[in-house]
Amino acid sequence: MNPVSNEETLLPIPNGWFAVAFSRDLAEGDVMRVQCFDTELALFRTRSGEVKLIDAFCPHLGAHLAEGGKVVGETIRCPFHHWQFDGDGQCVKIPYSKTGKIPKRAKVRSWEVVERNHLILAWHHAEGKSPDWEVPAVAEFNDPTWTDPRFFSVEVPVHMQEMAENNCDPVHFHYVHSAEAIPESTNTYAEDGRYYKAVSTNERETPMGRFKVDLVRETWGLGLSSVRLEGVPGAGLYMFSSTSPIAPKKTVSRWVLTVSRNIVDVMGDEYMDQIIKGLDDDMRIWENKIHRPDPVLCDADTFLADFRKWAKQFYSPAPEPRSPSA
Ligand code: FES
Ligand SMILES: [Fe+2]
Repeated sequence: MNPVSNEETLLPIPNGWFAVAFSRDLAEGDVMRVQCFDTELALFRTRSGEVKLIDAFCPHLGAHLAEGGKVVGETIRCPFHHWQFDGDGQCVKIPYSKTGKIPKRAKVRSWEVVERNHLILAWHHAEGKSPDWEVPAVAEFNDPTWTDPRFFSVEVPVHMQEMAENNCDPVHFHYVHSAEAIPESTNTYAEDGRYYKAVSTNERETPMGRFKVDLVRETWGLGLSSVRLEGVPGAGLYMFSSTSPIAPKKTVSRWVLTVSRNIVDVMGDEYMDQIIKGLDDDMRIWENKIHRPDPVLCDADTFLADFRKWAKQFYSPAPEPRSPSA
């Protein structure tokens, strides 16, 4: 249950790349209704295989393009009067028009998308600016010595920044996730500002023995991150995730997990289950916490202080423009 509080300051929707679907869920010719960025969207895959994302409400009489809309060639056709829109959101055909003339305002906003790491990701920027960084391509997903990926997704009623903040909170690994001690940790922020790497080291019991393992978390923007377990000899364990803002206090996290084939039977499932189970530990805290814009921190909370400073760059100062032609 969300807390009832007049103490809360709501964070806005941040800027960056965020997954809107798993690639495998959108076949050629499919249309999918997507709610993300506090906006109704229509996602579709054209007959040539390209993925397109546009605002959902038809500029004609406002039908939802993804509720009964159909892919026709490279366009999506509105279910109401069959106006057709291309991937740029431009109306290109009105089947019953006498002159064939398309009205000037017959257009909806289109969103930049990429398909990478088994995800379909969209660029959100509150001021409408173009992408200034790229989604990394994960080599393991194209490597035959790693397993086919496993997929997992979860919805959490919390602002996505609270989930991202956990990556920079080694203390909670001990108190929430039962790590044997507060792990030694280092955080390295890249010069261009969008990327950081956090490494926490702990002794860990595994089916292959007890090892000193590094939990390596890489982060690109506020929404994309990966977790790699290093230090178990010969074992590769990897997870790439995208955490997406559906609304200010509604987040969907999508995970793509893989392990090196040589260990799949010994600890592949266990690793993947452990990562997924870690969520249960966090969930009660996320579901019931408020956002503290100016938290009281202690001397040992340096990672949290650094994270808060870093996270600021992903918010625009102005409120998001709501014009359909923006
Ligand atoms: S509402 Fe879409 S064509 Fe009329
Ligand atoms: Fe956590």
